[in-house]
This record gives sequence, C-alpha cells and structure tokens, in this order.
Amino acid sequence: MATKTSSKKKKAKTEIFVPNIVAFACNWCSYAGADNAGVNRIQYSPNFRVIRTMCSGRVTTGFVLKALKMGADGVLVSGCHFGDCHYIFGNYKAVDQFEKTKAMVKTLGLEDERIRLEWVSAAEGPRWAELINEFVDRITKLGPSPLNNKPKYES
Ligand code: FES
Repeated sequence: MATKTSSKKKKAKTEIFVPNIVAFACNWCSYAGADNAGVNRIQYSPNFRVIRTMCSGRVTTGFVLKALKMGADGVLVSGCHFGDCHYIFGNYKAVDQFEKTKAMVKTLGLEDERIRLEWVSAAEGPRWAELINEFVDRITKLGPSPLNNKPKYES
C-alpha cells in the first residue's frame, strides 16, 4: 500500500507597501479634473481618497495634520491654477498655508515630501491621473508614515 506524503510548498512572499493617500481637491477645478479622469476612463492608481473642499484655500494646516494623524501616508492638496480660483485669491492663500503646513510637518519629524500642493483644472483629467501616479510612487518609495500604525501591505 502506497502512502502519499504531503509536502508543503513554501512560497516566498514579497509584500509590497500600499500607500494610503488623501487628496483634498477644490470643488471647481481639481475635483472636476478627477471626475474628468474618470469620465475618460483613464487608468491610474486607486490608492487615494478624495475629499472635496470648496477651495484649496480652505485646506488648513489642521486638515493636513489630521489626515496624517488618522493614518494617511501622504496628503495632496490640489486647486485651480492661479487666476482661475473661484474665490479669486483662494489658491494664493493655499500657498501661504501650505508653507506653514510644510514647516509643521518637518517639525513633527516627518518628511515634507509626504505632502504636496498642485494645480489641476477641470479639463486636466490626464494631468490628475499622472499626478496621482507620481505621488503614489513617491510615497511608496518613502514607505509608511511613522504616524500610520496600520500600514497596508499586499503580496
Ligand atoms: S476654487 Fe479652486 S482653488 Fe479656489
């Protein structure tokens, strides 16, 4: 009588870090740009969540820090190009706030590359997709945020 011996195959598991990105997008340009990417069925990284704000100038340091505190590995703030802001000077305010946010992030000991400010118009779906892909690549290389206590990996 022959007996079967079962051999357990050991698979080498390579786990890849999957970043958790939060993207604050202004209602009038960048959110519409993200929508444009979707409508045009552009394939790009799904590793982000969009939070719609009325203007990039509304995204305070507190918003960005809270996103990082809640486990975001990277935070993108995106608004209209200069001259296109629905509230005229909102994106100029965003620039000032972002500089303060960057300084605060550095003070907390995080890499300032974890946060990014960009301008994407409603017609720039391909640019939105490219920006998200670039940012996801950057954060993947940086690895999980030290504030993220549940980093996600997949094999
Ligand atoms: S409305 Fe888009 S940046 Fe102000």
